[in-house]
Amino acid sequence: MKMLNDKWLAALVAAGCIAAVAAATYGCGTGSGAMLPILCWGVVLAAGLFWGLTTRRVWRRLSERQRYRFLFWSYAVPFFAAMPTVELLFAETLPQFDRLGLKLATAAATGLTIALIYDFIHKNRQNMRKKIVAGNWKMNTLPAEGVELAKGVAAGRSEVCACVNFIVCPPFTHLAMVAEALKGSDIALGAQNCAAEAKGAYTGEVAAQMIAALGCKYVILGHSERRQYYGETSETLNKKMAQAYANGLTPIYCVGENLAEREAGKHFDVVKAQIEEVVYNLTEEQFADLVIAYEPVWAIGTGKTATAEQAQEIHAYIRKVLADKFGAAADACPILYGGSCKPSNAAEIFAKEDVDGGLIGGAALKAEDFLAIGKGFAK
Ligand code: PGA
Repeated sequence: MKMLNDKWLAALVAAGCIAAVAAATYGCGTGSGAMLPILCWGVVLAAGLFWGLTTRRVWRRLSERQRYRFLFWSYAVPFFAAMPTVELLFAETLPQFDRLGLKLATAAATGLTIALIYDFIHKNRQNMRKKIVAGNWKMNTLPAEGVELAKGVAAGRSEVCACVNFIVCPPFTHLAMVAEALKGSDIALGAQNCAAEAKGAYTGEVAAQMIAALGCKYVILGHSERRQYYGETSETLNKKMAQAYANGLTPIYCVGENLAEREAGKHFDVVKAQIEEVVYNLTEEQFADLVIAYEPVWAIGTGKTATAEQAQEIHAYIRKVLADKFGAAADACPILYGGSCKPSNAAEIFAKEDVDGGLIGGAALKAEDFLAIGKGFAK
């Protein structure tokens, strides 16, 4: 909630200070009565500071459901505690206020209102996150076929909600031609990888600078196939991320566990480590320009999809791991699901609160299917 971020905390402190000074000034002019208002404002200031700092610390560690309860109690209880003051001040105008039931009801209503306001802000914030459907063509299509595919996607794009950001990631060899085919459309271009170095004697590598020059806006990094078959480690990925940012590319950073890890119940630890070892090294500015793709290796190209609940569970976990480092900015980071996502299951998976779209392999090779997946987001 906004009230809990740094700006609001600072505003609270500032308001408290101003009020304390005002009270002191007023008090000085009225002789011995000065002590009481100063003391009151001192208490208000200290309580505000304490409340702000503790809630900020606790807040990040809470799940969504706990946050509602937390808000309810952290407003209702202090409000109830403040009732004697209200009674004192409005004793004449509100005589019935001394009834306990009325006090309790007012305090509960206050807590509930704050929790509902949070719910409203939170829901809108989720809707404000970028919705992304990205196609990872892998090592498929010849250049001319790729151009046709891209044209097909561009041609049918208007049937899908304008709120969906489409990205296609063809092989390096097709980038220039596909960029040309996508001209005039809002479909973005991405590459499937980039080199860890800026340029030089690295035979067979393709630099981030080169793909950016061809019109790419995105680059997939850390895909499980690259980790598995080409030995990509967090160390290399840190360098690749740096190259991507240095050239104005947005990384689509992939994380995900394999079957053995899932069966051993280690999936949370695996994605946590993949995030900590790479994403935690980003600056806040870089983090604001990052897309994460959760792709369980056991679901990639196998036809086995994670259930919508499994996806939501781990996406929410990923967002929490991101929030532990980057705080509220984690709410704005799109987290895509990948792994046998197709027209028949996209809508159910995308409907989950922390799923912001998909990274699509096989089904991205047919314009019709790829667009149908985009329709998983209601128009
Ligand atoms: P899939 O691949 O949709 O074919 O399972 C997804 C990916 O690896 O990005």
